[in-house]
Parts: sequence; structure tokens; C-alpha cells
Amino acid sequence: MTRPLISPSILSADFAALGEEVRAIDAAGADWIHIDVMDGHYVPNLTIGPAVVKALRPHTDKPFDVHLMISPVDPYLEAFAEAGADVITVHPEAGPHVHRTVQAIKALGKKAGVSLNPGTPAKMLDYLIGEIDLVLVMSVNPGFGGQSFIVSQLKKIEAVRKMIEREGRDIRLEVDGGVNGDTARQCVDAGADVLVAGSAAFAGGPDRYAANIAALRGDAR
Ligand code: DX5
Ligand code: ZN
Repeated sequence: MTRPLISPSILSADFAALGEEVRAIDAAGADWIHIDVMDGHYVPNLTIGPAVVKALRPHTDKPFDVHLMISPVDPYLEAFAEAGADVITVHPEAGPHVHRTVQAIKALGKKAGVSLNPGTPAKMLDYLIGEIDLVLVMSVNPGFGGQSFIVSQLKKIEAVRKMIEREGRDIRLEVDGGVNGDTARQCVDAGADVLVAGSAAFAGGPDRYAANIAALRGDAR
């Protein structure tokens, strides 16, 4: 079985101690740090802006995997790039011209991701797959941590894996929402190679982080 990268979502961290939380999850073996940016408009929740991303940047050398759930998105790309994002992922529904948004992310020298909501078909990627570095399959509706994994998305992960194979380039396939030890395995079997986890990664506090990440990665299997 492929060993997936683990990208813990700091949405489930202690917001009063974010710098320490990022250092702890890094030390526990996180591969990337997933940062959920929500605007109370595209999704019904408000979270983190570029100033927080910038403040966290000195706390880890791990890539910042910035998931933008904001509309409009284009006016904020530069701010997140300058704040220290490495991968910037956007939702096609969050702007009128997703192809242009992807080009803008690449012009900023960052890796570009496109995210598919549970109701959005894989076909959405047909004319984007040639341009992007990452596909993020949402296995919950975006907006909140702690929701249950939507099993129907496994078929979409399989379909996207086939598209990536046809494309023949190094494109990451990431899954986000309701990922725990059990669903992690299903996602990897379906073709995912990066797993986002909020609740499952941060459960139990810093002493548990290494074990949580090992369980998500399937180290015991
Ligand atoms: C949801 C976010 C997720 C969320 C995952 O909109 O994109 O990254 O934090 O949280 P869990 O792993 O708790 O479902
Ligand atoms: Zn996310």
C-alpha cells in the first residue's frame, strides 16, 4: 500500500496556542500543515486570514497546504502566497474563472490545487487537469471540522486517480473531511496520496499526535 502524506488541519488545533500546536504536530510527523480559510460567505464559517498564516510561518518548515474556501478568491491569492503558502487550493464554484485563478496561483510561484465538493463531479477537472498540481476531493461539505465521511466520494477518488494516471504527471490526490484510521485506508485504497485530518489528528492533545498520525498513515497495518 502507498504510504500517504498526512496534512493535519489546524482547524481542530487550540486556536489560543496555534504556534505551539503547529510545532507539536510537525514534531509528531505531519508531512504538510493544512490551513482552512473560510469567509462566512462561500462557506458558513469564519476562520483564518493571511496574517495568521504569516505568523505561523516561522514555526515550521513543513509545506503550508492552504485550502481557500472564500469567494471571491482572486483578490486574496497574492496575500496568501506572500504569507508563506506553498500549495494554494481553490474551489471552482468560488469564482467565475477557475482556469484563470489556477494560472494566477502558478504565476505567484505556488503549487495550484482544485477542490471538488461532494456534489461536484470529477468531470469538472477535464480542462484543468493539465494545469494543476493537486486535486482535493472533499469528503464532507466544506465549512466545519468533525463531520462524517461521505462514502460516495470514494468513487470520485477512483475516477480522479484514473484521470491523473492518464495525465501522466506528478499530481497529488488529497482527501479532506471525516478522515480517520478507517476511512484513511479506504481513501488510500481508492487512490488518494495525501490525507487531511482535523479531529483525528488533534484528538487527545499533543501527547497523542504522533500516534494519531501513525494511525492515519496506516503504520500499524
Ligand atoms: C472542512 C475543512 C476540513 C476540516 C477537516 O471544510 O476543509 O479540512 O478541517 O476536519 P475533520 O478531519 O475533522 O473532518
Ligand atoms: Zn480543508
